[in-house]
Amino acid sequence: MGEHKTTTPTPHNSAVKGDFAKTVLMPGDPLRAKMIAETFLTESKLVNNVRGIGGYTGYYDGVPVSVMASGMGMPSMGIYSYELYNFYDVDNIIRVGTAGSFHRDVHVRDVVLALGACTDSNYAAQYALPGTFAPTASYKLLSCAAKAAEDIGVRYHVGNVVSSDRFYNDVENSLDWAKMGVLAVEMEAAALYMNAARAGKHALAICTVSDHLVTGEDTTVEERQNSFSTMIEIALRTAVMQSK
Ligand code: HPA
Repeated sequence: MGEHKTTTPTPHNSAVKGDFAKTVLMPGDPLRAKMIAETFLTESKLVNNVRGIGGYTGYYDGVPVSVMASGMGMPSMGIYSYELYNFYDVDNIIRVGTAGSFHRDVHVRDVVLALGACTDSNYAAQYALPGTFAPTASYKLLSCAAKAAEDIGVRYHVGNVVSSDRFYNDVENSLDWAKMGVLAVEMEAAALYMNAARAGKHALAICTVSDHLVTGEDTTVEERQNSFSTMIEIALRTAVMQSK
């Protein structure tokens, strides 16, 4: 934790302890967080707005749930999830985002539940471990999400993703991950899983596939919106199921 203060509010979050629910959904985009709060939650209240990263707390199916954006990339997800777990007593963080598929059987609009998150980042170096850490999802959250996806009837895959520090690569070699069975690329899950592991908390990344790096399949704005809503429903049902 170094020399940083561990009290709330923090430099990145104007909320105080108790303002966030035990479960927080994290899209990358602050506008999506606002949309989730307004569309899916009841009695939602704005609890943070530092840097336009709106944090909202409300109810879904009678269960308190919060939603706040992570921003893009592992440093941003790293800061927000660290503070939620360690300073705001949050137990569960569910990332809801998009990913690019590497795999022929994982199509655009499919849902990927990230069982593990490989990475090209050196985020794990801070733990000074005598080997390679394998960032993994919380089994509790993952099993609830798989059940929710089945209940809803959506096509989903459970497997490895890779969290990359780069969207634009000077040399495009990200497909090399596919030879190890990695399904898709995104940019935040590994930091989330490592922060959860270090704090003894729970994390899951749920992604909808927005683009395909092998076949070039793409989605329209409307299709992206529909698959996004399905993913939110899986995440919210997971939040409720794990609380029972
Ligand atoms: N790279 C990284 N993150 C992503 C991508 C991608 O191609 N597509 C959606 N999120």
